[in-house]
Order: sequence, then C-alpha cells, then structure tokens
Amino acid sequence: ATERTSLFIFFGGTGDLAYRKLYPSMFNLYKKGTLREHFGVIGTSREKLTDQQFQENVLKSLDVAKTDKEAQKFVSHFVYEAHDVTDKAHYQVLKKRADELDKTYKLNGNRIFYLSLAPSFFGTVAGYLKTEGLTDTEGFDRVVIEKPFGRDYDSAQQLNDALSKSFEEKQIFRIDHYLGKEMIQNIEAVRFGNTIVESLWNNRYIDNIQVTLSEKLGVEERASYYDNSGALRDMVQNHIMQIVNLLAMEQPVSFTDVDIRAEKVKALRSLRVYNVAEASTNFVRGQYGAGDSQRAYRDEDNVPHDSNNDTFVAGKLLFDNYRWSGTPFYIRTGKMLADKFTRVDVVFKKPLIDIFSFPQNQNAPLEANVLTMYIEPHAGFTLRLNAKTNGQGFQTEPINLDYFVDAKDSKATPEPYERLIHDVMKGDGTNFSSWQEVSYAWRFVDQIRKVWDLQKPQFPNYTPGSMGPAAADELIQRDHRQWVYRL
Ligand code: BG6
Repeated sequence: ATERTSLFIFFGGTGDLAYRKLYPSMFNLYKKGTLREHFGVIGTSREKLTDQQFQENVLKSLDVAKTDKEAQKFVSHFVYEAHDVTDKAHYQVLKKRADELDKTYKLNGNRIFYLSLAPSFFGTVAGYLKTEGLTDTEGFDRVVIEKPFGRDYDSAQQLNDALSKSFEEKQIFRIDHYLGKEMIQNIEAVRFGNTIVESLWNNRYIDNIQVTLSEKLGVEERASYYDNSGALRDMVQNHIMQIVNLLAMEQPVSFTDVDIRAEKVKALRSLRVYNVAEASTNFVRGQYGAGDSQRAYRDEDNVPHDSNNDTFVAGKLLFDNYRWSGTPFYIRTGKMLADKFTRVDVVFKKPLIDIFSFPQNQNAPLEANVLTMYIEPHAGFTLRLNAKTNGQGFQTEPINLDYFVDAKDSKATPEPYERLIHDVMKGDGTNFSSWQEVSYAWRFVDQIRKVWDLQKPQFPNYTPGSMGPAAADELIQRDHRQWVYRL
C-alpha cells in the first residue's frame, strides 16, 4: 500500500467509538503499510491520562498480545492531552504538541481533526482550530464529523454554518459508516458494470425495491441518545437515504466524488417530499413491547415510561422522475427484530402474459424475478428466475442463481472505518455525505417527524423477534405487494 502522511487529532479520543472502531481500524492500516513512519496521533478528551496510560488503552483496544512488537510500535505514535473543548488557551497546548509531532514524524503539516463528540461542540472546536492556528500549516486540513448531523434541517444547517466558518465543504468528511461497507459499494459495481442490470433498472421493468435494515438488539446502553433520536433519525435520515440514493441515482459521468455527488443530489431533488396527508399514509412507526425474556422499550434503563420514541420505521419513498415514476421504494428498519441483517430486494415485474399457467397445466402462476443484494451479515447476490421443473410435463418453479463471498474473503474485507479513514487521508469524499445530501434528507424526514409529533401513537405495537408492527405489512399490502423477506 502507498504510505500516507498525516497527524490525527481525535476529539472524544477516549470514547467508545475510538477504542472500538477507530484505533483498531488505524492499526489495520498500519499493518497494511498505509500508515507507517509518517503519522502521529493526539487523543484528547476531558479524561485525565498520561501519554503512557493512553498508549496502554489503545494497545488494549487492538485485540493483540501486549507484547506484540508491531502494535507497540504503532501505539508509540500516540500522545494524549486532556482538553476542555471550550477552553481557548488549551488549543495552544494542542498546537504545540501538534507541531512537535509534525516535526518528529515529518508530517508535512497534514492534519485530520476527528470530531467524535457531541454535535453541539462542532462549531466551537472548528472555530478554535482556526483562530488558534492549528489549521495554519503547509499541508492539508480536514475535519471528520460523526453523526448525528443535527436533529432536523434547521439544527443541521446551524451546525453546517458553524463548521463552514472554518472549513470548506471539500475539507469536511461527514461519516456514514454504511458507505464504507463492502456490499453497499458493490451496488454501484452491479448497476453500472452490467448491461443486463442497468438496462432493466427502471420503472418499465422494476415493480418495486425494498430496503431492510433489521436489528436484533435493542437500545443497549445508548438509551439517552436513542430516546431523543428514534429510528427515523438514527437510521433512515442517513443510512437508508444513502442506500436508496445509490439505487436510484443516474450513472455518474465518472467514478469520482464530484460526479457521484452530482448524481446523488439530482436524484434527491426528485424525491417527493410528502405533505401531511402523504406522510401519515406512507410512513408507519413502531415501538417494541415486552417479549418472553425481554423488557418493553419503555422499561429499558434510561427510557421514560411514557416514551413515544420510534424503535421501528417502515415507509414508502417515491421519486418523481422519468426513471422511477410509479416504482416505489419501500424501506424498513427497527430494533429488536427477528434477526440482524441488511438486504435490498429488487422486485421485477412479472411477464405480462403467463403462458404456462392454464387450467389443464395446473401450474402455479409465475413468480416475479427478484435480485437480492445481501449486505450483511452474508455478502452476496441471488437472482430468482423461473425455470422448468425437471421431469415429465411442463411445470415451472423459481430457482436462484447465487453468488456469496466466501468466509476467507469476508474475513479479509476491510472494516468500514478502515476504508473511510483511508479515504480521508486520500482526500476522497465519495463515501461521505455532502451537505446537500444531508440537507435534502432532513427536509424529507422532517415532514414525517412533523406529522408524528402531532399524532399520539399506539405504543407498544410490536413483539421482540417479529418483523415489526402489522401496520408495516399493511403499508405494502395496500399496494398489492408483499415484503420479499418475511417470517
Ligand atoms: C448506527 C446507529 O448508525 O448504526 C445504531 O446509530 C445502529 O443505532 C447501527 O445499531 C447499525 O450499524 P451496523 O453497521 O451494525 O449495521
């Protein structure tokens, strides 16, 4: 791998995300040679730690023996500064350390500021980075932002305005870790690399597309965040909108961030933003009740007993454009569902005339062709076709053509964060959310939220281990369709 050169400053550097995902991902990059001699890391947070304690923590997060020489060498590039993000003077301390590391490791003034902290601090940190001179270097300055990027359009815009005072759009990398997933990136390969796929990829041949992000776990320890967010903000505004967009967009002029973003924004502009009546018929929400050995959401720690927070969403999205008019995208996601998986089902129209199913033949009606993209935990595709049943007579049956990534390859698949951190170092924004994408997504989601805030839901309305409330099935059955994946 080409070695990359940069200093990283992690705000929220002792957080769960940092230890669980960021440092292990950087270590993978280190083992592959993308990071080697010319990188340095400053961790900062309110916690008081010495460099040595921080290095020990990082080492522990790497899932290797303490004596691993390579890991020890890796963590020797890490230093720590306890830091109050609102204390201006402290940015001078950071600057001094940054300059030292820059010199020690010959970093050419390249800096990545990784903000893994409460969004209310984004503006403050970005402002001080600039006024206190941390961005005053020869090399690049990039800022990485973790979600949530606002809780509605207005708050997102405020955040963006605050960030834009110090950084230009092309310096801002908004993480959506779904965009770092192997099979999400594969959507573009399958669509734009295959004539047989792309030539059928429109409302003439596709009946509907279904996106399911199903989670088996509940809220775990994140109730205080989640109860203020809900599934609509937590999963739909970002991950699901991004997936739908990759499925809906036109072919980009070239495979570069600028051209891809242009098409994504164009698609979003034709996404129908619902009025009140449409929002209330086209979206349903759910909250899980108690199960056999599971408490109800309202009884989880740190959740108010009368919480009306959504732990499930299903909905229908419509694009008013030439390619998609009349072909809906159905989406659903929720906590405490039957299983953990992410998949996309593309349901094709049936042949207009079924010549095999006449009374004397007693053949079951032809089924629709379905292209399923398995994103996680298994990675692969299946294509359901109708074929003749082996034997006398002429019956048909659905068969699957399939491809799955084998266990060895899937073990070697880079973690989303590994890929995304690498992209930041390269300055490639393809797999990050641009401000325009974020803002269109909020405008869409805000309309649904607005309706929900007016109506009192009948919660709880689904059982743990199910695929959500009955209303989610009714939503699609009303259109004489069914979820491809059902229990
Ligand atoms: C996060 C959400 O963005 O994605 C979580 O905040 C959710 O609530 C998670 O559990 C799911 O991600 P993954 O990669 O496990 O499917």
